[in-house]
Amino acid sequence: MLSELLLTEIERLRSQGKLPLHRELYEAMRRAILDGKLAAGDRLPSSRELTQDLKLSRNTVVAALSQLAVEGYLTSHIGSGTFVSEGVPRSAKRRSSTRENQGNLLSRRGQALSTTFCAKQLEIQPFTPGIADFNAFPVALWQRLQNKHWRMTYPDMLDYNDSGGYGPLRRAVANYLRVFRSVPLDVEQVIITSGTQQSMELCAQLLTDHDDAVWLEDPAYWGAVKAFMAAGLRLHPVLVDQHGIAPSAQDDSTAPRLIYVTPSHQYPTGAVMSLPRRHQILSLARQHKAWILEDDYDSEFRFSGPPISSLAGLDTDERVLYMGSFSKVLYPGLKLGYLVVPKGLTASFKRAHYDLNRPGQMPLQAALAEFIEMGHFTSSLRRARQSYAERRTCLLAALQPCLGEHARITGAEQGLHLCLRLPKVVDDKNLAERIARLGLTVRALSAYCLERKDAKGLVIGYGYAPLADIERCGPVLARAVSETLDRLGKQHR
Ligand SMILES: Cc1ncc(COP(=O)(O)O)c(C=O)c1O
Repeated sequence: MLSELLLTEIERLRSQGKLPLHRELYEAMRRAILDGKLAAGDRLPSSRELTQDLKLSRNTVVAALSQLAVEGYLTSHIGSGTFVSEGVPRSAKRRSSTRENQGNLLSRRGQALSTTFCAKQLEIQPFTPGIADFNAFPVALWQRLQNKHWRMTYPDMLDYNDSGGYGPLRRAVANYLRVFRSVPLDVEQVIITSGTQQSMELCAQLLTDHDDAVWLEDPAYWGAVKAFMAAGLRLHPVLVDQHGIAPSAQDDSTAPRLIYVTPSHQYPTGAVMSLPRRHQILSLARQHKAWILEDDYDSEFRFSGPPISSLAGLDTDERVLYMGSFSKVLYPGLKLGYLVVPKGLTASFKRAHYDLNRPGQMPLQAALAEFIEMGHFTSSLRRARQSYAERRTCLLAALQPCLGEHARITGAEQGLHLCLRLPKVVDDKNLAERIARLGLTVRALSAYCLERKDAKGLVIGYGYAPLADIERCGPVLARAVSETLDRLGKQHR
């Protein structure tokens, strides 16, 4: 009986030390799955049955099941229940009764980080989302700047850096953010990081303790999910609607320590957070004494509608930490981004960043500072914006024939991708696989979902493929979608 198995495991965990109740149940179930006592496809009793059998509160059971679902151990199917997911690796056979985990080389966290949620790198071909056109990067100019700064490099430029990054680069970033993103800031508040991933890790390491709750958007950016999992946080997915993250009264009962959002262009649905919603999030953060992590990953590319200022620009309470990256604007392998922290946190963040990450790459940062100061950054941006706008228009036109009552586009006003929303009965992962067999890469919207089951569609990138490829492949993509919708229509007739 599952309940007996779980109770025995909970008893054993208790003998080793105290954990919150939901954590005990989570660990007991996870162990049962990893040890193969619960097999892929096994159906779990309902949360109500588990509540009764284990004599735990419903909240405790729901919290444990949600965390397991978020980490990919469980899958729910509307109307038919919750099942153990396929593809969870089993622990190797126990070799010793004293070291329970000896057969498994990874920690529990390591297993979760290496097996779940979008871990697979997508093949880069037309429509791969999240990829900028780094073929357009001015390599020769960059090489000249790098050579120049290497020639001028003094020994201290080769050392680690404890001041939050190269001064002129921090100044250039501050000037850019003041003008283009309405972020009111002092240069001292800017910290150069190795990209948004490191900015998120730093925020999680410095602002949370193990098992604190983080609210994040559902569907979510997988990089954020991984950063928060790695920090041992409790992931609390919050639904996204057409105005961005949409916390309900029920979410309010899980007090967050962090709220992670992509307000300019929700990743991946593309929703733009409305002004009332921005004020609601700021007010909720104030109420819960939580920090907001604003990931402004592609705000540089806005094609229609009024410019949107940042959440940090509306913050009067010093609760927003603003994150940006050069990955999309220049090239991802550059591995440079920035974090703007409230004044009161600046010194602690710089100290901890130094101790944890030993930042360096000063000659590279110096070349980037000059690239921005000499106006190359804004001219690259202007060129990129123009070429992405053309690709986006071409893709929108190509998708037109498959749009209608059952398919609509969201999030096309900005960025390098758009989202084609489909009815919830569509198996979007299957559709993405069929499209991959045609030599095109899109990602299923449901692959980004943590708990919700109703968000189906395709996340389609237009940043990487040249215009001619979009012209050629766009109709192929639209046809694949139309065929799926037609088949569905026939089944329902
Ligand atoms: C939502 C989101 N945030 C941030 C980033 C950039 O991350 P990084 O600076 O770590 O490359 C990306 C890149 O794909 C992204 O999609």
